Amino acid sequence: MHAQSANPASEADLEVLRRLTSSRYTCRAYEPTPVPNDVIERIVEIAGKTASWCNTQPWHLLVASAQSTERFRDALMEHAAHATGVDSDLPFPEEYRGHFAERRRDAGYRLYEALGIERSDKERRNAQSFENFRLFGAPHVAIVTIPAELGPYAAVDCGAFIGAFLLAAHAHGIATSPQAALAQHAKFVRRHFGIGDERYMVCGISFGYAQAGHPVNNFKTSRAPVEQIMQIV
Ligand SMILES: Cc1cc2nc3c(=O)[nH]c(=O)nc-3n(C[C@H](O)[C@H](O)[C@H](O)COP(=O)(O)O)c2cc1C
Repeated sequence: MHAQSANPASEADLEVLRRLTSSRYTCRAYEPTPVPNDVIERIVEIAGKTASWCNTQPWHLLVASAQSTERFRDALMEHAAHATGVDSDLPFPEEYRGHFAERRRDAGYRLYEALGIERSDKERRNAQSFENFRLFGAPHVAIVTIPAELGPYAAVDCGAFIGAFLLAAHAHGIATSPQAALAQHAKFVRRHFGIGDERYMVCGISFGYAQAGHPVNNFKTSRAPVEQIMQIV
């Protein structure tokens, strides 16, 4: 039998969806308090409802406990302080142009403005960028991987899963930081956690309880208007 079709849109559901999608943000300062395992499991269960090509569900999360995250943080900071260049499994963009460059610049300016960092202050900008490798002080990190054999569409499916994870976490009061910066050292990260070459690292997601009063958590990025991202023909 065919699964029952969705109910007609309910105003209440739409309101919740709007509120969640517009209040989620990338957190960059955390409280050290760990998140209970059952909360993490509930978030992953919701994210696991994500659609994927042939229902392959190619995503996998390796979630580090608070203790394991501490060990990883120390090792990563040590590694990133010396390692140069990109050692990712998936190719990093070489250049951002046009709209993409503008949006990237705007997000960066808002971040630095919130922290009172002058555009010309390269030292503080670099220090803030290095915060990625301190996992912004988060008590947990999830390493997101896909099977290498499934190709780019597994990354597409995984991106949708990541989006659902961020939203489900937010709905549970858990703040998140998706971080491609960690994938810059993918081989190191995979070795640290014993993940073999048969998997590609897509990104890390640091998560925990947000430090609400921290200025880095008190700015919003903008979004392109619908006309810019969609064309009806
Ligand atoms: C796949 C992915 C990778 C990201 N990598 C980083 C990162 O390495 N460091 C960082 O500070 N933010 C990272 N972000 C967060 C983006 O900068 C952020 O989502 C974007 O600026 C929109 O802001 P918002 O999440 O606050 O709405 C990443 C986001 C995604 C989805």
